[in-house]
Amino acid sequence: MTDQPSSIGFIGIGLLGRGLALALSARGYPVTGAASRSFSSAQWLSERVDGCRAYGTPQALADNSDLVFVTTPDSVIAEVASRVMWRSGQGVVHCSGASSTELLRPAELQGAAVGSMHPFQTFAGLTRSEDAEARLNGIAFAVAGELWLPAYLDRMVRALGGHPVNIPDRDRPLYHASAILGCGYLAALLQAAVDCWTAIGYTEEEALAALVPLAGTTIENIRRNGVAPSVTGPAVRGDLSTMNTHMAALGDSVPSGALAYGALTTASLPLAERRGVSPEAVAGMRTLADKYLRRWDSCPE
Ligand SMILES: NC(=O)c1ccc[n+]([C@@H]2O[C@H](COP(=O)([O-])OP(=O)(O)OC[C@H]3O[C@@H](n4cnc5c(N)ncnc54)[C@H](OP(=O)(O)O)[C@@H]3O)[C@@H](O)[C@H]2O)c1
Repeated sequence: MTDQPSSIGFIGIGLLGRGLALALSARGYPVTGAASRSFSSAQWLSERVDGCRAYGTPQALADNSDLVFVTTPDSVIAEVASRVMWRSGQGVVHCSGASSTELLRPAELQGAAVGSMHPFQTFAGLTRSEDAEARLNGIAFAVAGELWLPAYLDRMVRALGGHPVNIPDRDRPLYHASAILGCGYLAALLQAAVDCWTAIGYTEEEALAALVPLAGTTIENIRRNGVAPSVTGPAVRGDLSTMNTHMAALGDSVPSGALAYGALTTASLPLAERRGVSPEAVAGMRTLADKYLRRWDSCPE
């Protein structure tokens, strides 16, 4: 049993495995091993982290690590947990946002302490320690676990500059949906906005040159003032006529944007109410959005 691991290994050296291992090593944690589906991925990490060895199999890595982060895709975590022979007192942690530690049950049954540590952050494009450290600084991490792990992971999160949050298992789907709405679907929404420009005849690069400053300022306004005061546009003006022209134009040219526009009009209504838009105008926008979404629902593919 150890509550001060002197060897930390990673199984699954992808976007998150790379970023988290680089940041932990930079903060003085002993990242000593890497294993992945392909040996070249494990080597990628061992070449960048002093004292880190690439192992040919997850089992060899687990045999040589006090604490193992299973940073494979969610769909593979349970398989890795059941294939490896764990030892009593060893720590085994996954970084999935959607799943509980139930995925690690096979390790727990063998006496390992199991936990999860989910960084509420996106890991695309990290190859340098400095960038990994900066990306993790100031973010929330959902931490869960048993035995010595919760206290240890809490300290680890604080050492990375983050703050731990406690999400009950029943609320994990909601917690993870929030991450997808704020990240992956935000990107999908901006793709629809880009598609409007390309439908007019601009390139994607030109579209992004126009959209990124707008989106960036909106995020900055939200950071400073909160969501409701940062909303601009027809929803918070109760401007049905402009919405009507948008919906018609999107329906003609950018179907993916049309559906998003209708759904987000509905989602904006509570914000419109908070901004003082009249109940009549809010009801009018709801009717317009419902009518519009029904039309799209009934359209053949
Ligand atoms: N990406 C994010 O922004 C992010 C954010 C928060 C949490 N997470 C969580 O982090 C975990 C990893 O996600 P990710 O985005 O980093 O995935 P990813 O980029 O696809 O990387 C996963 C890695 O796992 C390896 N792998 C796949 N099957 C394996 C197996 N059977 N045995 C050993 N290694 C295997 C792959 O290895 P090879 O390269 O060797 O083929 C791949 O590099 C997930 O639980 C995810 O929910 C991700």
